[in-house]
Amino acid sequence: MARKIVAAQYGEPTDSVEVIDVPVPEPDADQVVVRVRSAGVNPFDAKQVRGQVGADPDKLPLPLGGEAAGVVSAAGADSGFAVGDEVVVYPASGAFADYVIAPSSNVHAKPTGLDDDAAAALLLAGVTAADVLATLGVTGDDTLLVHGGAGAVGSIVTARAVAAGATVIATASAANHDHLRALGAVPVSYRGDLEAAVRAAAPTPVTAVADTVGTDQAIDVSLALVPAERIVGIAAWGRTDDGIVVVGGGTEESRRHRREAVPGLLADAAAGRIVVEIAGEFPLERAADALVAISGPHPRGKYVLHP
Ligand SMILES: NC(=O)c1ccc[n+]([C@@H]2O[C@H](COP(=O)([O-])OP(=O)(O)OC[C@H]3O[C@@H](n4cnc5c(N)ncnc54)[C@H](OP(=O)(O)O)[C@@H]3O)[C@@H](O)[C@H]2O)c1
Repeated sequence: MARKIVAAQYGEPTDSVEVIDVPVPEPDADQVVVRVRSAGVNPFDAKQVRGQVGADPDKLPLPLGGEAAGVVSAAGADSGFAVGDEVVVYPASGAFADYVIAPSSNVHAKPTGLDDDAAAALLLAGVTAADVLATLGVTGDDTLLVHGGAGAVGSIVTARAVAAGATVIATASAANHDHLRALGAVPVSYRGDLEAAVRAAAPTPVTAVADTVGTDQAIDVSLALVPAERIVGIAAWGRTDDGIVVVGGGTEESRRHRREAVPGLLADAAAGRIVVEIAGEFPLERAADALVAISGPHPRGKYVLHP
């Protein structure tokens, strides 16, 4: 038997998340079973538990965890993987577990030089960042405003936009301004008059906005700076009537951007062009605490779970 973390009900993680015992999964021909070494924790996992992205009672107990890194423990004959391969699983279902099973198309060889925690915490944020940049079509001619530039998604948006030659203005709390400078962005605080602060900080007028925060402040300021079609977000689902674009893998184009981004993200992380910071590690059975931690103000970087 093996452990698996589930939401037994929708609600606060400390009331709802449980460890259950399940049989070790066995792969079909095109599937891979991975012994998890590290699982990445994302805000989406906490939203799932709280019923904020759907609360269908028929889906309970709901498996948690969207990405992991580990070692192949069983491989289907047609999967292209072998026992012992070090891999990254994304997108995953039920990655908060001792073992996760996935179709081979969702299993990626882990590059040498990328450690398990960074690999487990890279791809969900990374493909989202890549989708935002591809949807915006950011080039070296752009002056890009990134809301939440020090977050998991925002840091990768910022690093990649700078690498593309764009001028990047990024919002964060003061503690993260040095991080933004190190990425090559001009930091701006989101407290106070944000529009005035962005206009003062930007050497040339803003031409595109990547919003990873979704607050009304972020969207209102963005609409004052650029036309709505130059604003692409990942969290402002309530503001699409304003004409902004919010991406989440829900369209064929968004799914294509995400699929195509995986090899480059793994290569960039292995080469140090993307740095995945780890804010904290929790043992698997403390998944609820990790979900609480990621739900409030927290240090920069990702949380990971270790079986
Ligand atoms: N649509 C999708 O496909 C998709 C995919 C991944 C994530 N998401 C969503 O995107 C959001 C960000 O995810 P993440 O993993 O990057 O989270 P994260 O690592 O926790 O980063 C969140 C960032 O938001 C900043 N922030 C907090 N309050 C703010 C405010 N009032 N104004 C401006 N910035 C503020 C924080 O900056 P400071 O710490 O500097 O204050 C932090 O850097 C979450 O809501 C998540 O669910 C959506």
